[in-house]
Amino acid sequence: MTLPLKACLFDLDGVLVDTAKYHYLAWRRLAEELGFPFTQEDNERLKGVSRMASLDILLSIGGMTLAPDEKEALAAKKNGWYVEMISRMDESEILPGALDFLKACREAGLKVALGSASKNSSIILTNTGLTPYFDAIIDGTKTQAAKPDPEVFLLGAEALGVSPAECVVFEDAEAGIEAARRGGMRSVGIGSPTILNKADLVVPSLGAMTVGRLAELT
Ligand code: BG6
Ligand code: MG
Repeated sequence: MTLPLKACLFDLDGVLVDTAKYHYLAWRRLAEELGFPFTQEDNERLKGVSRMASLDILLSIGGMTLAPDEKEALAAKKNGWYVEMISRMDESEILPGALDFLKACREAGLKVALGSASKNSSIILTNTGLTPYFDAIIDGTKTQAAKPDPEVFLLGAEALGVSPAECVVFEDAEAGIEAARRGGMRSVGIGSPTILNKADLVVPSLGAMTVGRLAELT
């Protein structure tokens, strides 16, 4: 028997806000300083990927190998530029439909948690005014393993006091859908059904999602 859903776990970047454009500008600036180009298409490969793993991908595009301390310095430099940009974000940058769906979940009595790889989630949630909509916030400052490891979502379920089978994860990255599956949770993909073909349901944005549609998952 399938348990009823009790909680919604949301990825941040690409689900609630569009921060990919800021990650892109900061990584591109770093690549330019290092002397090679970095395209929007390259940036697609970094979605859902942790900061250091993103740097490794970027360096492989430039054909570079660096020592760990040099990599730390470059990641910190990129993050400085990224933080400068996200510090200017406001509620106008919440993705269409996201706020209404968060409110609808809460009104329906569902618990709500964040499950993000980002170590910058508190700046983003504060600046967009989204913090009060979450019962628990799990992000890159609280996790050891990156998605597709389910750690971030399992910690979310634990913080909410629900079992994984009672959770649904909202994700725009393949690695996030896989993390939900490994964690024993259902998932809704936000984006392309071709890319997110492992999700239980795929919608183009949270604007297409309603609490009623959660019944399609059970
Ligand atoms: C994910 C993004 O949510 O967070 C990735 O999709 C990003 O692109 C990762 O690299 C880590 O973010 P941050 O803010 O800790 O550098
Ligand atoms: Mg994402």
